[in-house]
Amino acid sequence: MSVVAVCGASGGIGAALCRAFTAAGWTVAAGARRVDRLEALVTDGAAAVAHALDVTDPAGVDAFFSVVEEKAGPVDCVIANAGVAVPGALADASDADVRRVIDTNLYGSLTVVRRAIPGMRDRCHGDVVFVSSDSVEKPYPQMLTYGATKAAVEYVASGLRLELAGTGVRVTVARLGPTLTEFGTDWDPAAVGPLMRAWKRHGVIPDHAVIQPADAADAVVAAVSLTPGIEARVVSLGPVPAVVDATEAASGKQSKDG
Ligand SMILES: NC(=O)c1ccc[n+]([C@@H]2O[C@H](COP(=O)([O-])OP(=O)(O)OC[C@H]3O[C@@H](n4cnc5c(N)ncnc54)[C@H](OP(=O)(O)O)[C@@H]3O)[C@@H](O)[C@H]2O)c1
Repeated sequence: MSVVAVCGASGGIGAALCRAFTAAGWTVAAGARRVDRLEALVTDGAAAVAHALDVTDPAGVDAFFSVVEEKAGPVDCVIANAGVAVPGALADASDADVRRVIDTNLYGSLTVVRRAIPGMRDRCHGDVVFVSSDSVEKPYPQMLTYGATKAAVEYVASGLRLELAGTGVRVTVARLGPTLTEFGTDWDPAAVGPLMRAWKRHGVIPDHAVIQPADAADAVVAAVSLTPGIEARVVSLGPVPAVVDATEAASGKQSKDG
């Protein structure tokens, strides 16, 4: 059975990835800081291995993969999914917040894939998946450090594909639009108002439609399940805007609320 290591598996898209990969017959290893949630995934049958993982701690990342290899076997697919954002204008951001977002989303992603790739390269097959965001396509004001980390991760993915050419290891970016998870639920409420106003003003999210985590997870499973001769380089997913009035939609008019 193929083994997938989901890094950042305790909620949202990561937990959905665990469920989708398990349903597809993979052996799932789940890592995150909230171990109680990982253990619940094991209890529910959505993961085979659960182990503490803080992607900002390289020794901890190494320990996580060692446990996974010992309990489940060599890792065939690694998913760099752990991510955080702190809302607020860049000029007003604290140094600690900027560093935390970069440490988790960029440094953490590079750390988990650097740990997983050598084994894949030796075995001449494997999948590296980075979970990115549609913020790489358009700036999300009040979340610029976050967008910068995702753009950097996508740059790395493009270059990594060149470095790994001829090794049998594939690299996929899962670039997601707004997805219904706990992302942002821990944000300071005082920062959310200005962020929403900025997004509305600049038309960042013109529609309230969202992706369901299970649907995003199914797309990732489908991408890494492609025949080994081809790779899904960027899986770019966005929600289809809700149809409020079929006649108006067909004529291209805006709804009264739109
Ligand atoms: N929701 C969206 O609209 C959206 C859109 C595009 C892309 N994304 C990306 O999707 C990914 C998952 O986000 P989500 O929406 O599912 O949010 P979420 O529900 O907040 O989940 C975030 C996950 O990241 C983990 N994580 C955070 N810091 C970590 C660390 N230092 N070490 C290990 N794990 C860590 C969390 O686990 P612990 O806290 O237990 O460690 C949790 O499992 C992120 O990379 C995010 O940028 C989300």
